[in-house]
Amino acid sequence: MTTRISQEEMALQRDFIKKVAEINAQNAPPVAHVHTFGCQQNVSDGEKIKGMLALMGYGFSDTPDGADLVIFNTCAVRENAEDRVFGNLGALKHEKAKNPEMLIGVCGCMVEQQHITKKLKQSFPHVDLVFGTNALHTLPKLIYEQLNIENREKRRRTFFIPEGDGVIAEGVPLRRENPFKASIPIMYGCNNFCSYCIVPFVRGRERSREVPDILAEARSAIDGGARELLLLGQNVNSYGKEPGTSFSELLREINALDGEFRICYMSSHPKDFSRELIDTIASCEKVTRHFHLPVQSGSDRILELMNRHYTREDYFAIVDYIRERVPDAALTSDIIVGFPGETYDDFKDTLSLIERVKFDSLYTFIYSPRKGTKAAEMPDPISAEEKGKWFAELLEVQGRLGENAYNRYVGQTLRVLCEGGGRTDPAFLTGKTPQDAIVDFAGDKSLIGKFVNVKIEKALNWALIGSIVN
Ligand code: 5AD
Ligand code: SF4
Repeated sequence: MTTRISQEEMALQRDFIKKVAEINAQNAPPVAHVHTFGCQQNVSDGEKIKGMLALMGYGFSDTPDGADLVIFNTCAVRENAEDRVFGNLGALKHEKAKNPEMLIGVCGCMVEQQHITKKLKQSFPHVDLVFGTNALHTLPKLIYEQLNIENREKRRRTFFIPEGDGVIAEGVPLRRENPFKASIPIMYGCNNFCSYCIVPFVRGRERSREVPDILAEARSAIDGGARELLLLGQNVNSYGKEPGTSFSELLREINALDGEFRICYMSSHPKDFSRELIDTIASCEKVTRHFHLPVQSGSDRILELMNRHYTREDYFAIVDYIRERVPDAALTSDIIVGFPGETYDDFKDTLSLIERVKFDSLYTFIYSPRKGTKAAEMPDPISAEEKGKWFAELLEVQGRLGENAYNRYVGQTLRVLCEGGGRTDPAFLTGKTPQDAIVDFAGDKSLIGKFVNVKIEKALNWALIGSIVN
């Protein structure tokens, strides 16, 4: 059962925010270091953590050195993300020895796994506070309890990981990382149980926010200067089943809001990417021309083992319909190399799929076994070295395809959202096209956060170069 957190409970948390702010006001302003690992959903959670902390009187620093509060907002999707968190936590031991008052918290997907909380309990005694993905909105109370214990010796370690299928908490304060880009979660959790994926175990069942709540957040983001709305969910295509609406309907409603802004969404599942949705996107001028459609593998045998519920032919049918209805569309995808039981022949099916589709770019991963998932129980005879070779081959093929794909932009004039200063040359700016391609162009910093028309002059295999036109 999904629980919508009551208004009374949220009011209680606001009271705790005030109480912590009062405690903090008695001393020099405290500093927090919040480090978020992983996906956009986590980044969005990080913005809520910072939103609550800012109201509690915390300033922020980019390093844990000298911080009063450190929070690691963790990711569990692959093993290397978890290793990084443990490495960072280990390094904090010395910091805490220097400053025993430092409060250390760990949250996010990792801590939803019992073997992880056990390890934190046993091997990381300097961690004070561990809270699960469904406890995020209770952070004010958790911090209050830590700060309010006057005798430090008595400070209790708290592990708060509520069970259940997941909650929706409306009205958590936010502190956006970027004023003109607003991440807006539209749903949480996942019901798909792809056999390699830990997400359904750590984020609970699919649950959608109500349309009016999303529209209000979108409106206030646009009024606050947001020029890009990123609608977030593990599988946005299945948005709205519970309130009885659909992702297409939501897109149409957001598209109808006044103002110049762009609508992006992340992530999609090919099994739910309907023709009706593609028609909707084609007709909504504010919706990005970028389709991130994770295919994972080009082999039907592996797709079945992955529990993905589509074949490569189904995937081609979606791609062909997108190309027909949205001719300027760009496609990108996620690919996993070395799934248990994958052979070189299966891998070649992935190569032939990417040759056929011609993605602008790919997010590529070597399979990482996740405890508790079905795939982690499957025989996996291929060596890491062999998988590494396949991975390198995939990158090489995509390098060539990506450069060709980017060449089609040369000569076009595209509406670019200017995102920041140049990455190497201070006279340059960098922005994103409606297809989500990075473009570098000369321009004044006052254009950051605005839309400009840029004529594309040159394509590299990972970025475009252009100049502003009127
Ligand atoms: N190993 C490797 N990659 C994974 N992904 C998810 N789980 C795993 C795993 N166990 C990838 C998928 C997904 C992306 C977000 O991460 O490609 O689309
Ligand atoms: Fe994981 Fe599949 Fe859900 Fe994506 S759709 S979060 S890959 S289970």
